[in-house]
Amino acid sequence: MDKLDRRARRALAGGLMLATLALGAGAAGAVGTAALTGGESAPSVAPGRGVDALLPQGGAVDLAPARALAARLAAELAERCPLAPPSDVAALDACRNAMFHGSALREALAPEVLWGRDGKFPGTPLAATGLTRFSPEALTAMYLPLFMFNGRWSVEYVATAGRARIRLEAAFRNRLAPGEFPYPFWHDASKWSAYENTHALLLWLTPGQPSIEVAQFTWRGPEAVGARIDPLPTPGFEGRWMWTDAAGQTQPKVTLFDSLYSPANPFRKRVDASYRGLALALREGDCLGCHSPENKGGMQRLLLLQTPLHAAGNIDAVLDSVKRDRMPIDNYGNETPLAAAARRKLIAQGEKFAAELRAARAWEAAHPAAPARVATGQ
Ligand code: HEC
Repeated sequence: MDKLDRRARRALAGGLMLATLALGAGAAGAVGTAALTGGESAPSVAPGRGVDALLPQGGAVDLAPARALAARLAAELAERCPLAPPSDVAALDACRNAMFHGSALREALAPEVLWGRDGKFPGTPLAATGLTRFSPEALTAMYLPLFMFNGRWSVEYVATAGRARIRLEAAFRNRLAPGEFPYPFWHDASKWSAYENTHALLLWLTPGQPSIEVAQFTWRGPEAVGARIDPLPTPGFEGRWMWTDAAGQTQPKVTLFDSLYSPANPFRKRVDASYRGLALALREGDCLGCHSPENKGGMQRLLLLQTPLHAAGNIDAVLDSVKRDRMPIDNYGNETPLAAAARRKLIAQGEKFAAELRAARAWEAAHPAAPARVATGQ
């Protein structure tokens, strides 16, 4: 694959907005503001914050679908993931269970969602904001349940992004045990602080597209009404993305299929076990150096592989990249061939993991009434 091709693919993977340029230019001639807010509880959005909501042709963007979705999601989340003490594991488990198993939120997510904190500066375009690529499965199992909601929402059109932005007031559960987080967010003090100080989730929708392609959390704007989160000092980071706790349990448990699928699912432990083989091969292939939360390579659209659930959403892409010799790359972005044995091992372990995963998923799909696990407090 040549460099141009790679750059174009990266831009696509990043959901970069060619349309943004056109809309941004057109919006310069905008003649008004249509920042719509929703729900009786919604705060009003002040004009003049880059929320001009007109198409270049002068026709107003139809925000009705975004508003309808916002109202539906806000009501669902307020009911299933309401504000609770930030250490309440039962509340977390109930929320995760509801979100993971067939929620309106999960259904609204695109097959790949870009997730991350809000841009450093108020106007930072999405294209210049570091985001991580996730499957709806990974987001609803590990990330989104860490937030609590009060049902308040608003919708605005951000002309510079060419997208509608749903704002759901939210607060972060910052007092959970370390294994309840998908990885120690506190490896980076600014990341932990951003999570802890969350005031809202932002869900981005391209007009005319049904699903959410980008989701962020933000400390901007007022604190969620009714929330009270006292920040903690940044916990110490021990340098590992997975570890074994004093009771011999692999952590973070929320990254394991054992914590996700029904206890009756005979394949769930085998998926986790086969990940261990894959992890060794990924380490030998030097993949985890770049594809882990530290993001040493500075990827704009990070892809994570460091736990079973993180790898699960990306295993097809991993196999594809390795079979086509696209990965690994060196620090300059040049493709660097793997030793034949390491390549063979990576493909074999990757295929084994993918096969166990397919079996576990198929069992889960065939047994919708099986007792759900997704409770981590047990
Ligand atoms: C030096 C850092 C680095 C190393 C080492 C590395 N990667 Fe990557 N990887 C990247 C970057 C940067 C991208 C995104 C840009 C791109 O698509 O070129 C990427 C993209 C990917 C993608 C996504 C491709 C797609 O479909 O968009 C996969 C899968 C992947 N890498 C797997 C691997 C595997 C497997 C290894 C180990 C054999 C590996 N990478 C080693 C930096 C690295």
